[in-house]
Amino acid sequence: MLKLSGLKVLITGGSSGIGKATAKKLSNAGAIVSITGRDKKKLESVAADINVIPIHLDVTKYNSIAVKTLDAFHSMGGIDVLINNAGIGEFGPLESVKVDQFERVFATNVYGLTMMTQEVAKFMKTQERGTIINIGSTASTNGFASGSVYCASKFAVRGLTACWRNELRKNNIRVILINPSEVPTAFNNKDRKEREEEQKKLRSKDIAHAIISAIQMDERGFIPELNVWATNPF
Ligand SMILES: NC(=O)c1ccc[n+]([C@@H]2O[C@H](COP(=O)([O-])OP(=O)(O)OC[C@H]3O[C@@H](n4cnc5c(N)ncnc54)[C@H](OP(=O)(O)O)[C@@H]3O)[C@@H](O)[C@H]2O)c1
Repeated sequence: MLKLSGLKVLITGGSSGIGKATAKKLSNAGAIVSITGRDKKKLESVAADINVIPIHLDVTKYNSIAVKTLDAFHSMGGIDVLINNAGIGEFGPLESVKVDQFERVFATNVYGLTMMTQEVAKFMKTQERGTIINIGSTASTNGFASGSVYCASKFAVRGLTACWRNELRKNNIRVILINPSEVPTAFNNKDRKEREEEQKKLRSKDIAHAIISAIQMDERGFIPELNVWATNPF
């Protein structure tokens, strides 16, 4: 089993929800963790609370990605695991879909995620090992009414994961897609406040558990894709 203690993990969007819960669990297990986020004040306050390193980075600022990734690399003394978790959603029926919605959502969920991976993969190729976890969604495999923009972005994440998995396996780099179903968080919340847990729905810490379980598998193997459902959300 891969040891979490001393593992160097970079998580995009670690200041809230699933990313924060994952950072907290990893940090409690002795991993060295860096988190990114757009809201600097929130990022720094969360990082201080859970004992991780804040890296102020909006993944849509593509020109900052190289320098901020290098920051994370130097602050942690390496990068063993990248968790591409930062993600946003916009929803609405086909008749109201606008191109700029695609542009905003793809900038974070697809282009930012790709540019982060491109940068971190350079370090991982040099060290000839690493794990990249992309956070997809049940919207990576299923469409739903009013989901055009978000589902298109998350289907794209699934496609990218499949390409990188094939490209990077020969460098001992594992590329894993984790697809959570609904978790009440700040996701798609205009005021960015975290929602309360709901009795029948998944919690951020359940997804964190799934992510960490996938990381912990001995590096000779990996789980290509993991779907996480609430048992009875109805
Ligand atoms: N919640 C669900 O039901 C659900 C289900 C399936 C999949 N997911 C996926 O899980 C991931 C995490 O979602 P969540 O529910 O934990 O949402 P969340 O509570 O809204 O957290 C999102 C995190 O990503 C950060 N972020 C957003 N855009 C960013 C950008 N451009 N650059 C850097 N950081 C950015 C946010 O920071 P700021 O607050 O500073 O913007 C925050 O730390 C997303 O990829 C989402 O699509 C969520």
